[in-house]
Amino acid sequence: MAELEGKVALVTGAAQGIGAAVARRFASEGARVAAVDLQAGPLASLEREGSGGIRGVVADLGRADQIERAFDAAAAEFGGLDILVNCAVFRTMGPLDEVEEPAVDLALAVGVKGYILCARRAAREMRRRGGGAIVSMSSFYSITPAKGRVVYAAVKGAVNALTRALAVELAGDGIRANAVAAGPIMTERRQAAADADPGYTSAERYRSMPMGRFGRTEEVVEAVLYLVTPRSSFLTGQTVVLDGGLTIS
Ligand SMILES: NC(=O)c1ccc[n+]([C@@H]2O[C@H](COP(=O)([O-])OP(=O)(O)OC[C@H]3O[C@@H](n4cnc5c(N)ncnc54)[C@H](O)[C@@H]3O)[C@@H](O)[C@H]2O)c1
Repeated sequence: MAELEGKVALVTGAAQGIGAAVARRFASEGARVAAVDLQAGPLASLEREGSGGIRGVVADLGRADQIERAFDAAAAEFGGLDILVNCAVFRTMGPLDEVEEPAVDLALAVGVKGYILCARRAAREMRRRGGGAIVSMSSFYSITPAKGRVVYAAVKGAVNALTRALAVELAGDGIRANAVAAGPIMTERRQAAADADPGYTSAERYRSMPMGRFGRTEEVVEAVLYLVTPRSSFLTGQTVVLDGGLTIS
């Protein structure tokens, strides 16, 4: 049964990885999807795959004006919004001593400011429809940080706090907000890293995962789908930790 028939969703960071997988699945569940990202080429392919259900919108999600334009384009095409999935990320890694201001600014602009401004605009659209659901991608690094992940962990910690704050702020409008703190998921990006370095998947951090494997994008998509449907109607403000047990071991 198509679970999202008649729904309109906006997915950020949708050109690849988890965002693209969410956009594809939402479309196959009957939603009309605005897929927003910086990368025009992959968005065009996604649009073709979506056969009318997916509209690619090129925008820099670290900039308020471009976020507004992306939502305007989605509203013009689909006439409203029921679901927002915040997936976009700018990753910067390395020791604290080597952290540079421009990279911190960009990571915060995309991963914190962008998520806040997307939620603000989404909530305006959702109120007109009597409610909605927001899901934001967090990470296991927000719970169990590792060396070299200071900026990323800070961004994802902010996502968890933002999720709780949005839940309180928007509950009266019938809008739920949750996050998914994913463990290592074998996206194209990670697969490329694994192909380039045979030791990648057996690194100590991953070897200690109780389930002994990386997650699959479809497993993340299942959680996101659950969080945007009435199946999770009493669930809000939570960060669902989807990590094969990594953070409890
Ligand atoms: N893959 C994992 O193992 C994993 C684990 C935990 C959490 N996450 C989180 O899940 C989400 C998706 O992860 P992924 O690995 O699929 O990501 P990814 O790096 O494959 O894709 C991120 C997307 O964000 C887009 N993006 C970056 N900056 C942008 C900007 N300024 N404007 C518009 N788009 C921009 C990129 O173009 C890219 O398409 C992220 O928030 C990530 O932090 C991923």
